[in-house]
Amino acid sequence: MLIAGKARLVGEIEVSSSKNAILPILASSLLSDENKTILNVPDIRDVTVITELIRHLGVKADYKDGSLHFSGGATGQTPPYELVRLIRASFLVMGPLLATKGAVRVSLPGGCAIGTRPIDLHLKGFEALGARISLTRGDVVAKAPRLYGNHVYLDFPSVGATENIMMAATLAEGTTYIENAALEPEIVDLANFMNSMGARITGAGSNVIKIEGVKKLHSTVYTPIPDRIEAGTYMVAAAATAGDVLIKNVIPEHLKAVTAKLLESNAVVEEQDDHIRVYRQQDIKPVYIKTLPYPGFPTDMQAQFMAYLSLGRGSSVITESVFENRFMHVAELLRMGAKIKTEGRTAVIKGCRELTGARVRATDLRAGAALMIAGLMARGPTIIMNSEHIDRGYENIVAKLNGLGANIQPS
Ligand code: UD1
Repeated sequence: MLIAGKARLVGEIEVSSSKNAILPILASSLLSDENKTILNVPDIRDVTVITELIRHLGVKADYKDGSLHFSGGATGQTPPYELVRLIRASFLVMGPLLATKGAVRVSLPGGCAIGTRPIDLHLKGFEALGARISLTRGDVVAKAPRLYGNHVYLDFPSVGATENIMMAATLAEGTTYIENAALEPEIVDLANFMNSMGARITGAGSNVIKIEGVKKLHSTVYTPIPDRIEAGTYMVAAAATAGDVLIKNVIPEHLKAVTAKLLESNAVVEEQDDHIRVYRQQDIKPVYIKTLPYPGFPTDMQAQFMAYLSLGRGSSVITESVFENRFMHVAELLRMGAKIKTEGRTAVIKGCRELTGARVRATDLRAGAALMIAGLMARGPTIIMNSEHIDRGYENIVAKLNGLGANIQPS
């Protein structure tokens, strides 16, 4: 990807549906043999991969004009390794397959290279519901002729573990309580989707989720929530380029932490029902950020803010508390002239006068988005290698940003 250089982003932009809501929603569609239609599905690589994976399990999947239609139930229990290794979220099929097939075998997941990202909490949950877990040649095998409701306490409010356990418990006998559950809006969306198929889930969005097992789930038509991370990325891009952008199809409530930090940094953020306008006329004021589970500041927005704050008037501090190794973008921002020092999980960003375009590498999805923002703030062209990471989670990002005045050529 080639970014020609500095651009002031001005205009309107529409946010797609949430990648992190859709991935578990698609996985949970395996819980029913009946027809399911998901509307407003973005054309992004992670969605393509998980759809392909579901097809491999025997479900008929048709994607047309942004709608994904599933018919029939899964016949297989083992998603193929070539697909699983591409995307960590593929592990989310484990809960639904365990619930419907009584057994599942999945190779250890891939996806973004941000830390070791274990799956112990998912497995702990399955065990609490009565599954037997074993590791066979790098594959995780879970078996349970029947799942039974139970109390599951999560040591950390893991998003994926909450989702996987919620899905498995939906068809279990009896009631499950997930304690210290993740509060992310995507969890609420997944619960709403499953409830629309007849599941009985209450408390999603709070730290105790109650799932009363039901015998069977039925057909549904569902529209997922807008992508708060995509919206947040465009909000930061607007502020970073001293632009003025109206971002449409957002739920402002989901973006409170991002909005708060943009306001602290001297940007103006105006919320209007389902859109947000962001502009900036003053210098970037340094801010302190600590990533946390929702409703704290999202780790998925950390890299983008680091790019933005690299032109701050003073030193900002970012502490990454969710993942242990999520500063890969630092080395790339340094190539562009940013002044950043890291120690453990903390980065100090000393604002500099100017960034200069360079040849950089996208190491993961959000790091790639951060480099795009840096490229739009920099003097001279920036080449982003491995920009395919960005296509995993941003629908038409090049066209969307070019529509606001950027000059970007895809690779
Ligand atoms: C999801 C999001 C990802 C986001 C992350 C945190 C999707 C598809 N991905 O990822 O974009 O960055 O939430 O908001 O929704 N952990 C364990 N054991 C486990 C599970 C997790 O120790 O069994 C740790 C992880 O290593 C990590 C932390 O918990 O340090 C958060 O992980 P988790 O909330 O599970 O993130 P994901 O569901 O993988």
